[in-house]
Amino acid sequence: MIKSGTDINFAAQLLKKNKVVGIPTETVYGLAANAYAEEAILSVFKIKNRPFFDPLIVHVSCINQVNEIAHWHDERLKRLAEHFWPGPLSLLLPKKTIIPDIVTSGLSQVAVRMPQHPLCLELLNRIAFPLAAPSANPFGYISPTEAQHVLDQLKSQIDYVLDGGPCTIGLESSIVGIENNQLTLFRAGGISCEAIEQVAGTLHLNTSKSDNPKTPGQLKSHYAPQIPMYAGPLTKLLKKWGTKKVALLYTGTENYNVYFKFNLSPTHNNDEIARNMFRAFRAADQSGADVILISFVENTGLGMAINDRIARAVIRD
Ligand code: TXA
Ligand code: MG
Repeated sequence: MIKSGTDINFAAQLLKKNKVVGIPTETVYGLAANAYAEEAILSVFKIKNRPFFDPLIVHVSCINQVNEIAHWHDERLKRLAEHFWPGPLSLLLPKKTIIPDIVTSGLSQVAVRMPQHPLCLELLNRIAFPLAAPSANPFGYISPTEAQHVLDQLKSQIDYVLDGGPCTIGLESSIVGIENNQLTLFRAGGISCEAIEQVAGTLHLNTSKSDNPKTPGQLKSHYAPQIPMYAGPLTKLLKKWGTKKVALLYTGTENYNVYFKFNLSPTHNNDEIARNMFRAFRAADQSGADVILISFVENTGLGMAINDRIARAVIRD
C-alpha cells in the first residue's frame, strides 16, 4: 500500500474517518487528527507514545476558525496572528468547550496556529474541522522535516503521510501567550523574539525549565539522537573526542577530517542552520559514529531556538 504522496483528497477522507495522517508544515511534519474527535486524538497520543500531560497544538485554516475554538482575550495576540499567520507562531488562547480536554491536557488554554504550507492549508480548507497535531516523531526523538522521516519511524502505525517536501523553516513554531498580563514566550521557535517584539511589544521569557513545565516540549531532554551528542567549541570537543568515530555538525568552510560530517551552513546563516539541523541530527544518528559534536550558534534571529534545541539534545558534562 502506498503510504505517502500528494493526494489531498485521500488525506481528507482519512481524517474525516478519524484516522491519523502525517501532514507537512513549514516547521516540521505533524501527526494530525480531527481536533474535535476525542477518539482520533487518543490515537495520536498512542502512536507517539506521548504522555497525556503534554498538550497538542491545534492547526486552523483561517483566523475566523479560531473563533470556533477559542477567545481572543488579548489585543497583542490578535496583532501577532494578523501579522505572522500563516506562519511558525502558536498562540495560547482561552479554549471553548468544543475542544476536548484531552487536546489541552486539561489546561484552560489551547495552543493555536495557522501553518504556512500550501498543501497543508489546502487540506485544512477541505475539511470542516481544525487539526490537532504534535510533531510526527516518537516522543522525545528528533522532529521530522521530511515525509520519509515520518515513514521511517511511524509507517506501520499510520495510513498516509501527505508529502509536502522538505520543511522550509526546519524547527517548531514559537509559542507565545499571556502570563500575569505580560506577553510571554513559552517556546523559542520559527519566529524570532526581535520580530515578535516589533509587532507586539516587550516579550518576557518563560523561565520554568523544570521537568514538570507548563509546556512539556520544554522538558530538559528532548529532540535527542540515540548516540551521545556534545555541544561546545569544536576545537576543544575534537581534541577530547578525536580518537573516537566523530559525527561533526559544523558551519563555515573549514575542512575537517572526521568519520562523518554535515555542513549546516557554509555561511553560518541561522535560517539555513535551522532548516538543516534536525536532518543533520538524524543523519549523524544513523552514521555509525560513536559521538555527535556540534557548536552553539550566534544568538540572533533563529539562534535562540537553534541553541534551545541543541541544549535539549545534548549530554552535559
Ligand atoms: O511547529 C510546530 O509547532 C509543530 C507543527 C506540527 O505545527 N508542532 C509541534 O507540536 O511542535 P509538539 O506537540 O511537538 O509541541 C507542542 C508544544 C508542546 O511543548 C506543548 O506542551 C505545547 O506546545 N503546548 C500545546 N498546547 C499547550 C497549552 N495549551 N498550554 C501550554 N503549552 C502547550
Ligand atoms: Mg515535538
